[in-house]
Amino acid sequence: LVVTVPATAASRPVVVAHRGASADAPENTLSALALASRFGADMVEVDVRETRDHALVLMHDTTLTRTTDAESVFPRRAPWRVADFTLAEIRRLDAGSWFGRAGRGQRVPTLREALRAMSGSGLGLLLEIKEPRLYPGIEARVAGELRRAPSWPAAGRLVVQSFDWGSMRRFARLMPSPAIGLLGTPSAADLPALAGFAGQVNPPYQDVTPEYVRLVHRHGMRVFAWAVDDPGDIQRMISGGVDGVITNRPAVARSVLQDD
Ligand code: G3P
Ligand code: CA
Repeated sequence: LVVTVPATAASRPVVVAHRGASADAPENTLSALALASRFGADMVEVDVRETRDHALVLMHDTTLTRTTDAESVFPRRAPWRVADFTLAEIRRLDAGSWFGRAGRGQRVPTLREALRAMSGSGLGLLLEIKEPRLYPGIEARVAGELRRAPSWPAAGRLVVQSFDWGSMRRFARLMPSPAIGLLGTPSAADLPALAGFAGQVNPPYQDVTPEYVRLVHRHGMRVFAWAVDDPGDIQRMISGGVDGVITNRPAVARSVLQDD
């Protein structure tokens, strides 16, 4: 399998800004994506969910409460699940004030807006479909959105990932061109079947050892470790042979790579 991630000089590991440059800007907002580019990331990771009217939006959590002001704007709509709100309602929310004054006024972006905002940046995209079982048919809607922006899959700048491997198998059938990432740490016994449709295994960095990286590589897949922010841990991942580090601090990862 050929994994389509952005080419990097001398095949150094890819730096992926987790939820954008999320240590320095509110996660999954356009400002976090722009900052990732300024910090020298190669790719940006975003989380995608679906609204009640089937719009695709960037949001990590099942509910809107942690990263927006939904509770004060819609006080009677507990438990504030993304799936219970229309896009028009979600557009009214402030998605940045929770992060501090600098984030004030950020809105919840749609996937379409994020693709548009990133299109000229040269950044790659690691698109996570969050809890697909909550949004039946989301794989087809994500594929449809990506077909509207054909430069993404065609240019090999895109990886689609999920913790739900069955969903990723469905996605690969719908849209063969993006590389598929499997979140988690599949066992040696699972890897042969998974390698039939996936190009990456993306485990939590705590699970990553040089032996595990070699095992995944033997099946023709790459390894991106998440979410690794400490310079010593980043160095350990690089020495262990990972192909990418998914980090909230892309500038730190770039400087570790420079010193390597
Ligand atoms: O990209 C890996 C990572 O994002 C998975 O965990 O909870 O941050 O979406 P989470
Ligand atoms: Ca994620």
